[in-house]
Amino acid sequence: MRDRYDRKIDYVRISITDRCNLRCKYCMPEDGIKLLEHSDILSYEKILKICEAFTKIGITTFKITGGEPLVRKGVIEFIKALKALDNVKEVTLTTNGVLIDRMAESLIESKVDRINVSLDTLDRDRFFEITRRDSLDIVLKGIYRMVDLGFKNLKINSVPIKPLISKDLLGLANLAKDMPISVRFIELMPIGKGNEYIGSTREDILRILEANFGRALAYEGKLGNGPAKYIKFKDFIGYIGFIEALNDKFCDDCNRIRLSATGFLKLCLHYDYGFDIKDLVDDLGVDDLAIKLENIIYKKPKSHNFGERKNHADNKNMNQIGG
Ligand code: 5AD
Ligand code: SF4
Repeated sequence: MRDRYDRKIDYVRISITDRCNLRCKYCMPEDGIKLLEHSDILSYEKILKICEAFTKIGITTFKITGGEPLVRKGVIEFIKALKALDNVKEVTLTTNGVLIDRMAESLIESKVDRINVSLDTLDRDRFFEITRRDSLDIVLKGIYRMVDLGFKNLKINSVPIKPLISKDLLGLANLAKDMPISVRFIELMPIGKGNEYIGSTREDILRILEANFGRALAYEGKLGNGPAKYIKFKDFIGYIGFIEALNDKFCDDCNRIRLSATGFLKLCLHYDYGFDIKDLVDDLGVDDLAIKLENIIYKKPKSHNFGERKNHADNKNMNQIGG
């Protein structure tokens, strides 16, 4: 489908839980958040019905996010069921990686198309400082395990906050040197806890990487469904990417919407408005639901307004939105 600005909308990020087994300082408060009641979280059955309706209006690429999606029971079966729907092009997953090691075989069996692992450092103490949990080893074990099992579509997402630590950036980039993995650096968004930190731009990061790996070549092709722009260093197997939602606003090409764990359809990452579709799912059949969704999504805002007015800015934390 196309929205009122003629943007093709074909991608939805679905948050299946607000719970997380890490506490990244730019995402969640140290003592956690008030968790959603289980009864407020959409059942997989309802999510699948919504997804079926999405496919009828051309939204055929699905990203499963959280919180941490792998902590929700039944996620593997859910992925399989989603993959089995007609016209589903791709189902991908964003995870902090803590449970990959334990779930590696079943993830492969689920036929999930791609996994993005969020990781900001390869240093154990730094990992603890950022995530408030001592889980680096198990995350790395999970990553290596997937690569060993032949899984080809793994990406690393890092959100480097200031002050930049060269060792963190170089350590992550080296993963792309040695393995068929793309490593992407994401500019921090001023959302919830993210407002308390300063993100890094491509320029900041590239300076450090090029000083170490030499000049990078731009890669013009597309990898995946998102706004990342890629480069390649000599002798690297994988690519390095940048996602700069502020410094390099990509709203004109935005292809996505978001569905929260409670059934709130969010049309732009920035704003608190959107539509609560939880009750619609019960009231409408799939075809009518699809028509309703199309009407809602048609009105997607033109662009985000981060850094300008605070009107209607969402003050949720990222774990409630799903990245
Ligand atoms: N800005 C950008 N990315 C964020 N994430 C969490 N908070 C923010 C923020 N304020 C990222 C995590 C993870 C994904 C789910 O969202 O690092 O990759
Ligand atoms: Fe959990 Fe991801 Fe938030 Fe970290 S950034 S606390 S891993 S949801």
